[in-house]
Amino acid sequence: MSSYQEQLQTDLQRLDKMLQRVVGKQGLKISTAASKEDTTRILDLACGSCNEADTLTDFFSNLKNGSSASSEKKIELLGVDVRAREIADAKRRFKSGKIAGQNLHKDYHFLTGDASKLDGHRALDEHFDVVFMRHQNYWNGKRTWDEIFEQALSKLKNDGQLVITSYFDEEHRLALDAIQRLGGQLIDSQQNHESRELPTAGKSVDRHVAVFRRKD
Ligand SMILES: C[S@@+](CC[C@H](N)C(=O)[O-])C[C@H]1O[C@@H](n2cnc3c(N)ncnc32)[C@H](O)[C@@H]1O
Repeated sequence: MSSYQEQLQTDLQRLDKMLQRVVGKQGLKISTAASKEDTTRILDLACGSCNEADTLTDFFSNLKNGSSASSEKKIELLGVDVRAREIADAKRRFKSGKIAGQNLHKDYHFLTGDASKLDGHRALDEHFDVVFMRHQNYWNGKRTWDEIFEQALSKLKNDGQLVITSYFDEEHRLALDAIQRLGGQLIDSQQNHESRELPTAGKSVDRHVAVFRRKD
């Protein structure tokens, strides 16, 4: 394994630990729509190459409660990013299929598209248990990211959870304010003290992780 891949794996293990801390204790109530009873659905917005795809599907399939030990668990992840090259990379790396030794089927779909305008995509007709945004980029375009956050909240099931991570303290603070203004209720936000520092001062990988639900 190259040192880049090792770094990536370490970052993802730390992300998993943060998810345990911030999301794990809330549990995740999975809605049981008749047609999708055993399926947990994750929407990963602005996912880039979606390095976190396996981390998320493993974490949320383990959180799922309610299905019997014998029935196969299914988890779907739909990743969306405006950059076609990153989406092509994600498609190449993450394939759907049954996971050997586990009673789990993973389904991956990746879509090149604008996350501020999700309506009209058939794959996005249904709602999601989890909407995830890793390293949201609010600082870079507040208007666009307001729209992306609005879309994210609107795609949640009633008891679904929106999870974001941020690179910078100030950008995280701005995103927390924006999401609450747009109808999100903050459940928890924590700093990742193992976060890997990046060359830009004050920037580090998954520096903060926050979870929201939709206000009633
Ligand atoms: C800071 S990067 C994070 C990428 C990835 N989630 C990660 O953690 O490596 C922000 C991402 O937002 C994407 N993005 C920006 N505006 C977007 C839009 N309107 N719709 C979809 N993706 C967008 C960019 O292409 C980029 O991949």
